[in-house]
Amino acid sequence: MHDRQLWDLLYDVEELLTQQEISREPWRVQPRMTREQQLEQLAREIASCRRCSLSEGRHCSVPGQGPVDPEVMVVGEAPGSQEDQQGLPFVGAAGQYLDKWLAAIQLDRRSNVFIGNIIKCRPPNNRDPLPAEQDACLPYLKAQTALLKPKSILCVGRIAAQIMLGSSDGIGRLRGTIHDYSGIPLVATYHPSGVLRNPEYRRPVWDDLRLLRTLLDRQTHA
Ligand code: URA
Repeated sequence: MHDRQLWDLLYDVEELLTQQEISREPWRVQPRMTREQQLEQLAREIASCRRCSLSEGRHCSVPGQGPVDPEVMVVGEAPGSQEDQQGLPFVGAAGQYLDKWLAAIQLDRRSNVFIGNIIKCRPPNNRDPLPAEQDACLPYLKAQTALLKPKSILCVGRIAAQIMLGSSDGIGRLRGTIHDYSGIPLVATYHPSGVLRNPEYRRPVWDDLRLLRTLLDRQTHA
C-alpha cells in the first residue's frame, strides 16, 4: 500500500470513529488486506514515520504488541528508554509490574491483551508529549483501535486517559468508573510507574482492575 492510500485509510478511520460507534461489521472501506496484514502495514508505517520531530531522536518506534483479537487494549503514554531500545511497549520495570496487574485478572499480552501507546516514539527525557506530537501520532492509535476492535480499553496514567477521553480532569477523577470510547467501554487507572513510586495507589488500581474484570465477564455472558 502506498503512503497516500494509507493516510486516506487512516483519515477514513478517524472520521468513522468521530461520527459513529465502531461497528463489529467490516469497515465501509473494504480492505483488500486481512486485518493482520493491515496491522502489519500500520506497524511498518509507524516504524518509518517522520510526522513529528520525535522521529529524529528515536532508536526505535514502538507500534504496540499483542494478538489481533484482544479482549483488552491497554493504552499507555509513550515509550521509555528500554522500549525505545527494543521497539516493544512496557518492557521496563513499569511493564513488568503491568504484566502482574494483568495476570491478576487473567489477562496477558501473549494471548488476550494488545498493549499500545498514545505516542509511538520516546519524548526526550520522558517529558509529556506536546499537542503537535499527539495530533501527529493519534491517527495510528485510532486506526489500531478500529482494526483490533478490543472488547474494552484500559488507559494507564493521566496522559493516556485525558487524551483518549478528551478531558482535562486528573486521573483521580477519571478512574473508578466506566467511560465510553466510540462504543468501547474504557476504564482508566494510575500508571504503573506512578504506583511503583506511590504505594497508596495500589488499592485504587486493584479496584479499577476488578471493575475491568467484571466488565469483561459481563460482556462474555451477555
Ligand atoms: N510507559 C508507557 O506509558 N508506555 C510504555 O511503553 C512504557 C512505559
